Amino acid sequence: MARRKKIYEGKAKILYEGPEPGTFVQYFKDDATAYNAEKKDVIDGKGVLNNRLSEFFMKGLNHIGVPTHFIKRLNMREQLIRAVEIIPLEVIVRNYAAGSMSKRMGIEEGTQLPRPIIEFSYKDDSLGDPLVPEEYIIAFGWASQQDLDDIVALALRVNDFLSGMMLGVGIKLVDFKIEIGRVWDGDFQRLIVADEISPDSCRLWDIETGQKLDKDVFRRDLGSLADAYTEVARRLGVLPSNVTHAVKPHVIN
Ligand SMILES: Nc1ncnc2c1ncn2[C@@H]1O[C@H](COP(=O)(O)OP(=O)(O)OP(=O)(O)O)[C@@H](O)[C@H]1O
Ligand SMILES: [Mg+2]
Repeated sequence: MARRKKIYEGKAKILYEGPEPGTFVQYFKDDATAYNAEKKDVIDGKGVLNNRLSEFFMKGLNHIGVPTHFIKRLNMREQLIRAVEIIPLEVIVRNYAAGSMSKRMGIEEGTQLPRPIIEFSYKDDSLGDPLVPEEYIIAFGWASQQDLDDIVALALRVNDFLSGMMLGVGIKLVDFKIEIGRVWDGDFQRLIVADEISPDSCRLWDIETGQKLDKDVFRRDLGSLADAYTEVARRLGVLPSNVTHAVKPHVIN
C-alpha cells in the first residue's frame, strides 16, 4: 500500500492527506508541550483521550448547528476532518480570569469576569502567539470585519455549549481556545470550528474542589495529566467509569 502523505506535523497532532479531496486525517499524538514547547513530555494515552473528547465536543456542536471540521472518528487516534484554510488566530474565550490574563491584568485566578471576554492571538510560535487587537487582524488581512463578527458569534455559541456541558458534570469552564477555518461552497465562504477541543485547549476546574482537570496539570506539575483527562472523559460518559489510565484508556464504541 502506498504510504499516505503527511501534510503537517505539529506539536500535538499530525495531518495526513484524507481519502477524498477536501479531507484530512487528523492523528492525535501523546506529546505534551507548554510554554511554546520549552517544556515537553510524552503522556501515555493523551492522544487517545483527546481524539475521543474532541470528537465528543465537535459532534455535539454539529448537532446544535455550529459547523465544525469533524466528519467521523476513524480509530483510537485518528479522525476524518474537512480540510480548511486556517485563520491564523487563536480565538480565546474567557469566563473567569486565569493564566496570561491574570498576569497581564493583575486579576486573581478564578475571578469571574463581568461577561465572557473574547481575545485573539496571532498564531506564530516564533513570536510566542502575541495578543493582537481587531485593528491588526483587519489591517493585515487575516480576517474581515464580517469574518470577525461571525467568529465572535461562533465563539460565544461554543462557549455556551461547552459551559453547559461541563456544568452538567460538575466542571467550571474557565476559558478555552479554538481555531477557525474557511471552507468554500462554490463562491461562498463559510467559517467553521477547526483544530481540536480538548483539555489541552480548555481550562477546566472541578466546581466543588477547584481541582484542575486540564493542561495546567502539566504546565504547573500538579500531578498526572492522564488521570485528569481520564476524569473529564469519564464524567462526560466518553469512557466507562471503571477505567483509569493505569490500565490504559479503553473506549466505548
Ligand atoms: N481542518 C483543518 N484543516 C487544516 N488545518 C487544520 C485543521 N484543523 C487543524 N489544523 C491545523 O493543523 C495543525 C494541528 O497540529 P498541532 O495542533 O499539533 O499544531 P501546533 O504545534 O499547535 O502548531 P500550530 O502553531 O500550527 O497550531 C495546526 O497548525 C492547526 O492549525
Ligand atoms: Mg495546535
